[in-house]
Amino acid sequence: MQKPDRELGQETRVVHGGPDPDPHYGAVSVPIYQSSTFAFHDADEGAARFAGTDPGYKYTRLGNPTTRALEQCVAELEGGFAALATSTGMAAVSTVLLGLLSKGEHVVGTDAVYGPTRLLAEKHLSRFGIESDWVRTENIDFLRRAIRPNTRMIYIETPANPTIKISDLEACGRLAREIGAYFVVDNTFSSPILQQPFRFGADVVVHSMTKYLNGHSDVVAGIFVSRDQEMHQRLAPMLQTLGGTPDPHQSWLVLRGLRTLAMRVEKAQDNAGRLAEWLAQHPKVAWISYPGLPSHPQHELAKKQMSGPGAMISFGVRGGLEAAKTMINSVRLCVLAVSLGGIETLIEHPASMTHAGVPAKERAEACITDDLVRVSVGCESFEDLKHDLEQALAAVPVFQDSRRSV
Ligand SMILES: Cc1ncc(COP(=O)(O)O)c(C=O)c1O
Repeated sequence: MQKPDRELGQETRVVHGGPDPDPHYGAVSVPIYQSSTFAFHDADEGAARFAGTDPGYKYTRLGNPTTRALEQCVAELEGGFAALATSTGMAAVSTVLLGLLSKGEHVVGTDAVYGPTRLLAEKHLSRFGIESDWVRTENIDFLRRAIRPNTRMIYIETPANPTIKISDLEACGRLAREIGAYFVVDNTFSSPILQQPFRFGADVVVHSMTKYLNGHSDVVAGIFVSRDQEMHQRLAPMLQTLGGTPDPHQSWLVLRGLRTLAMRVEKAQDNAGRLAEWLAQHPKVAWISYPGLPSHPQHELAKKQMSGPGAMISFGVRGGLEAAKTMINSVRLCVLAVSLGGIETLIEHPASMTHAGVPAKERAEACITDDLVRVSVGCESFEDLKHDLEQALAAVPVFQDSRRSV
């Protein structure tokens, strides 16, 4: 098949990205190579595969054609050299941290990262002599002040979870280069449709594919993409040894979901923008964080580094913890569940759910307040979502306190 003679848009890449149709039968959908191991024609071929002189497959933990198709598609979307899929998003995060950091080194990252990412560093990597600091990276001066002589990695999640604060990728990338540190970006919240961190100097981009890339709340999976061959060659053996590789069927499901990523993000983002405008005016909403609103402190920065503000909204329910709980207990259409990026709208309370493992003091410093409700806006009809949130907010008693928590 001849290759297109022009640079393709992201919408085209999600549909066509990855290898050409199956060379054996022309199957348009990538076949599921549900095999743990691959036969060699003879001993020499087996030896050549293990020596790396024959690029064929050997064993699914070390590589699988279905998984490779998914990896190729995501690497193209992110604009990186190569990607490696993992069994979960946390398998991607842990492989990258373990693969790039050594004893005595230090990582500084966004304070409001996904809770277990921070726990991994603070509770587990610390046992192996790796130090970490988690600061408000939306302020580059805070990040700069946390740098130490042994800082070897800057780890940014933007937009951050669950505050939806934005860090300046270009400035963070510049700082990482200046101090000779790796620059790792968790791009889960935006997906490569809205943000491509390699453009701003990232060395590695990680994703929980459980979220937007798969998009149907039916698979857990992750992936990391390396900027260049050197990084890829450094991280690949780490993944193969740790063993957090996906099952071929899991990879196929994610690839199928990925094909509609652009459409899903567009619809969800449109719903989110309209809901955010409406919520911002609601008397029972104390504050709202959505990068598409001019009131968001990094609204201009979001416009600069993202091609759209996304579909994640966080807001404070006036009245604090009890009010937030009443609200999320009252939804009838939105689903009360953690996770995000699916076609259905999900609502959760980070302080008692996704970020409950982060100590209260650190939660407060990261602005993960008790009144914060996070909504992952999905692809339903806008009017139905608005009606559901309206009736859920109506169930909350009226509180006079008008303080803004973030
Ligand atoms: C931003 C972010 N990164 C990483 C992860 C971890 O992904 P997984 O749950 O697939 O292990 C999550 C999960 O919620 C997340 O939101």
